[in-house]
Amino acid sequence: MSLKEKIDVNRLPRHIAIIMDGNGRWAKRHGKHRIFGHQNGITAVREAAEAAAELGVEYLTLYAFSTENWGRPKLEVDALMQLLLQTIKEEVVTLNKNNIRLHAIGDLNSLPMRNRKHLLKVIDDTRSNSRMTLTLALSYSSRWELIEAAKKLANEIIQQKIIPDQVDQRCIERLLETYNMPDPELLIRTSGEMRVSNFMLWQIAYAELYFTPTLWPDFRRDDLYEAILDFQHRERRFGKTSEQIQNVKKEE
Ligand code: IPE
Ligand code: IPE
Ligand code: MG
Repeated sequence: MSLKEKIDVNRLPRHIAIIMDGNGRWAKRHGKHRIFGHQNGITAVREAAEAAAELGVEYLTLYAFSTENWGRPKLEVDALMQLLLQTIKEEVVTLNKNNIRLHAIGDLNSLPMRNRKHLLKVIDDTRSNSRMTLTLALSYSSRWELIEAAKKLANEIIQQKIIPDQVDQRCIERLLETYNMPDPELLIRTSGEMRVSNFMLWQIAYAELYFTPTLWPDFRRDDLYEAILDFQHRERRFGKTSEQIQNVKKEE
């Protein structure tokens, strides 16, 4: 039985988020510049997206460039932006072929104009695709997102659209970049690092975390299947007891 066949498609995470990490170390192992690692990460993006869509995952979110990544050497930042531009341009055909809708979260205004323009065009060109939403987190960080949400909320209070006592979970959620998506149920990070690096801090409150030593450019379909299988073996209790969870299952 293949890994894919072992997956229970009725219990898939609706939303999977991935911190794609390890491109630099992969390149170093191959005796190449870090940029070579980023270039080789594109195959992994394609594999993860196609595998998730084929299974029936509704949302796949990829952390592609963080707010903090702007602090990398200019040569690397420029190469990453160039690679992003080229990939968006080239992949539009594959996205449409696979019925995948592209979406982006983050401070898109901070991207080079050309990137923003093409990104918005591909988002528009794929907007009626319905099999899966592929979201790229670009110039994204969770603290940036939360600060923006706080600003919007403060303005709504000043304009008396809402009173402080009415602020609840939903009220915060609708101000986040992810307002139209369910929270990720599974968060994968490659390269063996066990941290979340400012990614979706609000949204991963109850996500299952999965860490793999695989470096991102080596990530393939089977790596995604393994992560999903691991997820399906976990008991998600959301603060309740194991007995309560088992009873709900029996009642179903
Ligand atoms: C992830 O790989 C890609 C980005 C953050 C853009 P890294 O570039 O962080 O690779 P390592 O962690 O240095 O190996
Ligand atoms: C996180 O990876 C950001 C992305 C994957 C885009 P980093 O490599 O930038 O994170 P740290 O510096 O190891 O925490
Ligand atoms: Mg890294």
